[in-house]
Amino acid sequence: MSNEIRPVTDEQQFELLIEGLIGQEYGCCDHFFPPDMIQGLRENLLAYREAGLMHPAGVGKKFDYQKNTAIRGDAIYWIDKDAQNELEARFIQKIEHFIQYLNASCYTNIDDYEFHYAYYEPNSFYRRHLDQFKSDRGRQYSLVIYLNDNWQATDGGSLSLYIGENTLSVSPEAGRVVFFKSDQTEHEVHAAPQRPRLSIAGWLKRTS
Ligand code: OGA
Ligand code: MN
Repeated sequence: MSNEIRPVTDEQQFELLIEGLIGQEYGCCDHFFPPDMIQGLRENLLAYREAGLMHPAGVGKKFDYQKNTAIRGDAIYWIDKDAQNELEARFIQKIEHFIQYLNASCYTNIDDYEFHYAYYEPNSFYRRHLDQFKSDRGRQYSLVIYLNDNWQATDGGSLSLYIGENTLSVSPEAGRVVFFKSDQTEHEVHAAPQRPRLSIAGWLKRTS
């Protein structure tokens, strides 16, 4: 990444994500949020966890819903759209800007979104899956933002994206965002044996 031109404005970052999605089925952009903001969001996540507010994530929706640590082992906390927390408000603002940009440039008709913090204990994982539920087709695009400082290849915890014949690997480095289609791109979170893996994952939705 270091010898590429770094996109600076929000719009340049959005373009990079959209071009990636169109050209290679996924977009990836580093420095999507500045380091101080990533650090603050990480501290928020850890504080929610300390306060006992994070809960084991489930699999499926409505009647299909079950907690199943053989499939996924993360604990989550949903972010309020009207968040009073300043960093979460800034986070939501940029997501809404991205949705506006996407709708204006790609006619995507996104009209809703949802995001949660995710904490993967060491050795937990999320097996290969699609993000769109069979019982609710609302989720159109997946976005994951990573909160892990100084992540090393030897830490594990990569995201595998299964694209055609290829498997692409993304390291969950602080400030990096990944963008792909929720109904199309199968993916998997690998275990990190030594350290917890922190992120914010979310979906851009079409409800009508
Ligand atoms: C998810 C997911 C990917 C990641 O939460 O559905 O696939 O890299 N997350 O954390
Ligand atoms: Mn997923």
